Amino acid sequence: MVASEAAPFIKTGGLADVLGALPAALAERGEQVAVVLPWYGEARVEASRCVLEEFPVCGGPARYGVRVHEAVWRGVPYFLVECAELFGRKGIYFDEKGDFPDNHVRFAVLNKAALAVARRRFRPDIVHCHDWQGSLAAIYLRSVFAGDPVFLGVKTLLTIHNLGYQGIFPAETLPAMGLDATVFHIQGVEFYGKVNLLKGGILYSDALTTVSRAYAREIQTPEYGCGLEAVLAARSSVLTGILNGADYSEWSPETDRYLPAHYSREDLAGKQVCKRALLAELGLPEACMERPLVGIVSRLVSQKGFDLIEEAAPELMKCGVCLAVLGTGESRYETFFRTLVAAHPDRAAARIAYDNPLAHRIEGGADIFLMPSRYEPCGLNQIYSLRYGTVPVVRATGGLDDTVDEETGFKFREYSAAAMMGALKEALAAYRNPERWRALQRAGMARDYSWAASAAQYSACYRKLRLAS
Ligand code: ADP
Ligand code: GLC
Repeated sequence: MVASEAAPFIKTGGLADVLGALPAALAERGEQVAVVLPWYGEARVEASRCVLEEFPVCGGPARYGVRVHEAVWRGVPYFLVECAELFGRKGIYFDEKGDFPDNHVRFAVLNKAALAVARRRFRPDIVHCHDWQGSLAAIYLRSVFAGDPVFLGVKTLLTIHNLGYQGIFPAETLPAMGLDATVFHIQGVEFYGKVNLLKGGILYSDALTTVSRAYAREIQTPEYGCGLEAVLAARSSVLTGILNGADYSEWSPETDRYLPAHYSREDLAGKQVCKRALLAELGLPEACMERPLVGIVSRLVSQKGFDLIEEAAPELMKCGVCLAVLGTGESRYETFFRTLVAAHPDRAAARIAYDNPLAHRIEGGADIFLMPSRYEPCGLNQIYSLRYGTVPVVRATGGLDDTVDEETGFKFREYSAAAMMGALKEALAAYRNPERWRALQRAGMARDYSWAASAAQYSACYRKLRLAS
């Protein structure tokens, strides 16, 4: 697998959760898996050994000295690509000035290094690419390495985690990625005169998956296709939706190492302890114990539907809820939450930060989890919420639609503040009826989204690819 993040080494979102758990679930099924990712300056690597001494990787005319280290996580080798010049800096994709201007070179070098690993260290029969950052591997295998006997018969699978990020660069960047005009056409990486790496991945991979069945359908429509709907529709015969799993060894209220008390479906008493402790941690008064606590943990980006919360904020606060928010992202939403907290300091708290332990404690301590996403390829927090008896209120889109139903939570379809408030008010009415609430919590906690089922579907996909000529 080639990807840009993987827990526990480096994480900004759900992609890392997937790359930290799916490989081990596949290994458990007997697949031999390895993951290649960059060794970022901010990565957490406890133990590793150098397995490929410095060798040159060409990013077009430029050469970069690269070393590859192996770290083992859950029995799976993770090959970390060290290149201080490209990956050693602060930030993963961007800094305060915006996206790194050399991202195309950074991920070109990652993918070239991944193919060097495939050549010299771990001979795969399938290269499984993730998102635009992993798409170049598929593009190289069909262009620069097309005649290379080492890769003869190697198949490619691209998993799309988020169509909102496509890796679009000016046409002039092609040579710096080691590509030329032979891939710059409508059936290749060309996209309105620019280079679109995800488009290249979609067209050059042998098979495609995305992270829920609903999203697999949605992305073939103009509403969700982000301009690639026709390209995806043309490849629909090789596109499947495989829902992400949850890593219950990390996310279970029975064992969660970050919670002040544990609880289970049979005995939910500890959840109240978690709520009380969370209120204290966030500086909210004890009186909030009497109110429903709505939790939000998210990247603060427009994908996640924060404009609906912004629009509905006055009405939302009138409903008598308390709010616990954790997130970082666009300054517009950070400012909105800070302002909301300033206006309601006794009922709303926001941590503008990335804080994994607090993310767990919000799942544990909140009553309701709000996720009104504009689009959501899969979404993991609602799946975690189900397991924590934290009833999800979600927009019926993508993976949210596939994982929440009327027995376990509340959904609204239309992307509007009114529709969101409608679903939230239904949830609040249910909250006032303890028996009904308990039933919702218990139904959600009984749902099983463990990785085993998803891994079986990836295995089936690999099998099909291996058999194809
Ligand atoms: P996405 O990948 O689009 O961000 P997901 O719901 O798939 O959305 O995954 C988000 C993951 O990132 C979850 O594991 C969530 O707990 C975590 N996360 C998001 N924001 C934060 C934050 N500010 N602090 C800690 N964890 C966060
Ligand atoms: C993306 C999506 C999210 C999904 C995650 C992992 O970041 O936004 O919905 O759960 O990838 O596949």
